Amino acid sequence: MSNENKELTKFLKVRKETANSLLELIKKSYSDETLIDKRKKVIHSEAYVLFPLIKSKNGLNKLMKSDLNDLSFEIVNSKAEFDPNYKSRTIEEALIGELPEHIIELIPKSYDIIGKIAIIEFDRFNSLNADKALLFKKKVAKAIIKVNKIVEIVYEKTSEIKGQYRLRELRLISGKDKSETIHNENNCTFKLDVKNTYFSPRLIFERKRLSFINLAKNEVIVDMFAGVGPISIQIARSNDVKIYSFDVNPVAYQYLNENIKLNKLIGKIFAYNIDVKELVKSSNKLGISLKNQVDRIIMNLPEHSIDYLDVACFLTKSTGGILHFYQFCEKPNSVEKGIEDLSHHLNRIGWKVEEVITSKIVKAYSPKADMIVIDANIKPIK
Ligand SMILES: C[S@@+](CC[C@H](N)C(=O)[O-])C[C@H]1O[C@@H](n2cnc3c(N)ncnc32)[C@H](O)[C@@H]1O
Repeated sequence: MSNENKELTKFLKVRKETANSLLELIKKSYSDETLIDKRKKVIHSEAYVLFPLIKSKNGLNKLMKSDLNDLSFEIVNSKAEFDPNYKSRTIEEALIGELPEHIIELIPKSYDIIGKIAIIEFDRFNSLNADKALLFKKKVAKAIIKVNKIVEIVYEKTSEIKGQYRLRELRLISGKDKSETIHNENNCTFKLDVKNTYFSPRLIFERKRLSFINLAKNEVIVDMFAGVGPISIQIARSNDVKIYSFDVNPVAYQYLNENIKLNKLIGKIFAYNIDVKELVKSSNKLGISLKNQVDRIIMNLPEHSIDYLDVACFLTKSTGGILHFYQFCEKPNSVEKGIEDLSHHLNRIGWKVEEVITSKIVKAYSPKADMIVIDANIKPIK
């Protein structure tokens, strides 16, 4: 091995018989990416194992101060050989040696992947000089592409989700500025545009839950705020039902239609590009035909669902029906607050919660609020 492939490195030197226990202790006290440099080969000598350490003052200081259950170790300098078979598993690993230590600490712990696009929020880069920040963001984007073979494009979130269409602004950090992609989830395929339609891969488990609910044959369902159709499509794929799916955003509606075709659901899902408030107008023919005909309504517009309960009650069968009601509610006791709020608003329009079937936090929305879901049986007050 030529010396060019070697680098002077600090190693953690431990006796062979204590190496495993020491590694276990280290794993518990560090996220192991921040201590051992997995790009370099471990050295095995007769009585000792030498683990290559990441160049990190913080990591080394923490190690020197730790007691590690009195297992003895030494820090030694030696030349380390790079492992040609090494593949980074996390962006932190991929960024070792690429970014200063204090910048690695500012990298977001998570990011979303939608098809070939990654979307990341650099919420801790605000204090950095803009040019430097952009340079670091590009390196992070390169690391994301390196560890996720499917990703080709990286966008940065530059605004909150806002407006009636629930969109956010995105800035290109790496790759081509092409925001249309195809995303696979729970055996369904979704074509969408991350800039012009709403889609959150974080709701994957919620959509799976809804598609596994035991539905009666031929149930009539309304997906009031369907977006590109992830809920409607996953329910229709695994149930014998008829779904009316609405979205006011013309771009979302266009993809909703494409996705119905892509997932072979023509005749099971019927898409409409209207504001659902139109349905209660006496001139709206679709509204007239759906009035009191619907068994189940999905209301996935957590910021404003409460404002559409009149539409939900207008459509629901007069013998009652089921709501899947999403809402942002303040912590603590967000779920209890949500149920109280839903009951209160239904009562004001002559309906009631007959039974709460399921209620839970779907995800934390902000430090102060949760996104919750209430599955409830609702009925008119007689
Ligand atoms: C939070 S997104 C949910 C999309 C979808 N259910 C999902 O899981 O991806 C809400 C959607 O409701 C649509 N929307 C908002 N107000 C609406 C209204 N009054 N009538 C119909 N659609 C509406 C927005 O355009 C957006 O696509």
